[in-house]
Amino acid sequence: MVYKQLEQRGMPQPPVNVSTLRQMAAEHEPIACLTAYDASMACIVDQAGTDVVLVGDSLGMVIQGHDTTVPVTVADIIYHCRVVARGLRRAFLMADMPFMSYTTPVQALDNAVRLMQEGGAMMVKLEGGSGQVGIVEHLARHDIPVCAHIGLKPQSVHKLGGFRVQGREQADARQMVDDAAALEQAGADIVLLECVPTEVGRMVRDAVEVPVIGIGAGPHVDGQILVLYDMLGITQGRLPRFVQNFMADAGSLGAACEAYVRAVKSRAYPAPEHCFS
Ligand code: KIV
Repeated sequence: MVYKQLEQRGMPQPPVNVSTLRQMAAEHEPIACLTAYDASMACIVDQAGTDVVLVGDSLGMVIQGHDTTVPVTVADIIYHCRVVARGLRRAFLMADMPFMSYTTPVQALDNAVRLMQEGGAMMVKLEGGSGQVGIVEHLARHDIPVCAHIGLKPQSVHKLGGFRVQGREQADARQMVDDAAALEQAGADIVLLECVPTEVGRMVRDAVEVPVIGIGAGPHVDGQILVLYDMLGITQGRLPRFVQNFMADAGSLGAACEAYVRAVKSRAYPAPEHCFS
């Protein structure tokens, strides 16, 4: 029997865990996150120094070719999580809870346990505001690490009427800040904030103590995440304003991922042209 966790503590680059992420945020070291969906890309992303790898339900769009993330199932995420886990050495593995997989505390716990036990995820991410407080509380009470995804919630695309910037109205921004605080209070370990004006990113960052990871949320948050295929220029069609193509000036996939990590760590990304006002 080997206590791998203890052995890894003294390594020069020990695996990232929730404490590492908290410490990075406290020390103002930006957290670099990317999605991945297979073992080979996971390996490249990991070796580039990415801190968190998300098996996102964006796989419904970039891998499966759907228009939204709605058709993705728990079985899909488990499959991709398993293969991604095999490619990782250092990065922290987070898995998305798909559409309608967390409608009750019991269902959420069952599915989160599957993502961790069958998929190898170390944290689950779910979309929602104050309506999900009870779910987050239930997961946290069972020591399931949780990332609460607020701002633009892609699983709600049909209710929202499209993928749009959120929180432009003062009342919506206020609600988002209150939601972040309520989710932290309920036990969320990370807040992920998508597609909001820079100032709202700052307000949410200031409202909570847990790390805030942004995607299109401006430079004032604790870390950044992008969909891997977007930042590699693989995704076809019009891309959101916050995406930078890191492959354009790189000679290899590894160099592109390293350039992204460097840009996040040095705060060169996101630049003003990637931000919303
Ligand atoms: O599914 C996903 O890839 C995500 C990112 C957009 C954060 O949720």
